Amino acid sequence: MSLTDLPAISADPYGPEAIHDPYPLYERIREAGPVVHLEQYGVAATARYEVARAALLDWETFSSARGVGLADLKDSEKWPGLKPSGLVEQDPPNHTVARKAINTLFTPAQMRSLQESIERRADELVAELVERGRFDAYQDLAHDFVMSIVPDLIGVPEAGRENMIPFSTLSIQASTSPHNDRIREIMSEAAHLREYIETSSRRENLAAGSMGSLIWELVDEGRIDAELAVKLIRGLLTAGMDTTIYAIVNAIRSMLEFPDQWRALRDDPSLAQRVADETLRYESVTQTITRTVNVDTEFFGARLAEGTKFIVFNSATGRDPDKWGDRANRFDLDGASRGHLGLGFGIHQCVGQPLARMEIQALFTALATRAGELRAGDGEVELLGVPPLRSWTRLPVEVTAA
Ligand code: HEM
Repeated sequence: MSLTDLPAISADPYGPEAIHDPYPLYERIREAGPVVHLEQYGVAATARYEVARAALLDWETFSSARGVGLADLKDSEKWPGLKPSGLVEQDPPNHTVARKAINTLFTPAQMRSLQESIERRADELVAELVERGRFDAYQDLAHDFVMSIVPDLIGVPEAGRENMIPFSTLSIQASTSPHNDRIREIMSEAAHLREYIETSSRRENLAAGSMGSLIWELVDEGRIDAELAVKLIRGLLTAGMDTTIYAIVNAIRSMLEFPDQWRALRDDPSLAQRVADETLRYESVTQTITRTVNVDTEFFGARLAEGTKFIVFNSATGRDPDKWGDRANRFDLDGASRGHLGLGFGIHQCVGQPLARMEIQALFTALATRAGELRAGDGEVELLGVPPLRSWTRLPVEVTAA
């Protein structure tokens, strides 16, 4: 059975309809079979939890080093000039070296040292927004909160920080999505963003004691080389901010959609520790995780040839009824979201998750403690609209004091 013998899906998961509401398409993909053929892109894909988990676990068959987007980095004729990133686009043994190095930035002790200042910042910001009575969940809450924490942690210079979110959204898109007109437009405007990131990652420009400068210390210790250091810092700048911003927005949106869950949180602020996981199960920020089949393989009845791109709709797996039962399509802080794939799975599972969890927990603890009612506000709601990320860049909210 070749790719074309698999159940065929002609709809475009990166097209306007799916951007607006991907879940009907995800359901079709899931019901069509364990592995389907996405005709428009000539790739294999899955929307089933069990299949996705197995693929992400098997890094030998489903390689990241050949690119985590639709481009095959091994095929330099078809995709000239593309180079793998330092961590997420590496397989062992390179990945193991890089991952061990970066793990040292996210130890429990490192995280404990950040907790107090993150909680303080969350409380100050939420107090201000509750007093104001209305806020935009993207700009005033998520963006301003994360941007007041993470750039200082990584240690990049103050000047030019407004470039960071456009850069990271651009990089994630450029490496993981088909190059449509929107992406080409963004890329053409991006030269100054790349320059900013190049300059910011230089050793002399990073604050002493920051995560960025700790990465350079790993070079001094002979654990990694300078080229990898630059790539790892770039990786943090790409992956460490907008993902968390969008997760916070998705959490607020889910609570507006399920007001009983906002009330449950307000009545018991300790539920804030469940917000990150339930949000990433129900409304995942990253819609897809892509791999390349590295050797001919038989997988859940599908014969996949070496070189085939394989898309895991990790967002869809969060609503797979075979895994989540009746709660699949419901946002619920009951604590049963363990095992979701919103942070990936296997050797590449998100390394920055302790930081993201801490930020999200601090913010929602502050909201649960200080806010009373939380309602959708007046004004336009705007979808981010840049796959593979799903979130909103405008979401007005009205809030009362507790
Ligand atoms: C809620 C926020 C976040 C989400 C939804 C998220 C999502 C993900 C996902 C899905 C992956 C797996 C990619 C793959 O397997 O191809 C990943 C990996 C990664 N994430 Fe996150 N992430 C978040 C926050 C962060 C933060 C705060 C940082 C750093 C400060 C970070 C740094 C990374 C890095 C460096 C990797 C690559 C890990 C590896 O390849 O070993 N992420 N993230």
